[in-house]
Amino acid sequence: MSAEHDKKFFDTFMMVLGVLVAVAIGILILVRIVAANTQEKHVMADPALRAAVEERIQPIGKVAIAGQDNSALAMTSGAQAGAASGASGAASAAPAADMSGEQVYNMACVACHGAGVAGAPKHGDKGAWSARLAKGIDTLYKHAIEGFQGDAGFMPPKGGRVDLSDQSVKNAVDFMVQAAK
Ligand code: HEC
Repeated sequence: MSAEHDKKFFDTFMMVLGVLVAVAIGILILVRIVAANTQEKHVMADPALRAAVEERIQPIGKVAIAGQDNSALAMTSGAQAGAASGASGAASAAPAADMSGEQVYNMACVACHGAGVAGAPKHGDKGAWSARLAKGIDTLYKHAIEGFQGDAGFMPPKGGRVDLSDQSVKNAVDFMVQAAK
């Protein structure tokens, strides 16, 4: 009697155990299927991960050529600066050097300000500049560096050349302001 009771208990126990193991394996399989369809894709598309990978596989050096436009180097290193957070100082190019106003003007401003394109106050046009000079030089610096939407049109930040140093842009403003006085 007692032995039969034990056997019955044992059979039931093994059956419950078997069901639990089966359920556990079922959940494991389900998790793997869901993860394969979602997790990996999200992880691979994550911009932070992509930026980190781009940063790891970038070439160890970049060549800057004297006397040529090396702004593309400065721009990429600027874009990566966030991800690199200064860790790879040797790999990133030096911060953009300050340039003379005339240099900057001819490189980044003349396209619009040379002929007065799209509402830009023309270089040397005293009439177009007088009202702007009245705002004070600090406002003009600020508008040239940060960009400015006026009645005449849109002045893009740093004339679209965000790789330029603030001082370079200020020099270019000085250069234009001198010609308009
Ligand atoms: C894509 C065309 C474009 C380029 C390139 C550009 N500008 Fe301008 N800029 C404008 C326009 C348009 C205005 C007039 C905005 C307005 O008043 O409506 C303007 C206005 C200005 C002003 C007067 C801002 C004010 O407060 O009145 C300054 C200073 C100036 N630009 C400096 C620069 C400098 C320096 C550069 C080169 C680094 C440059 N701009 C390149 C289009 C441009």
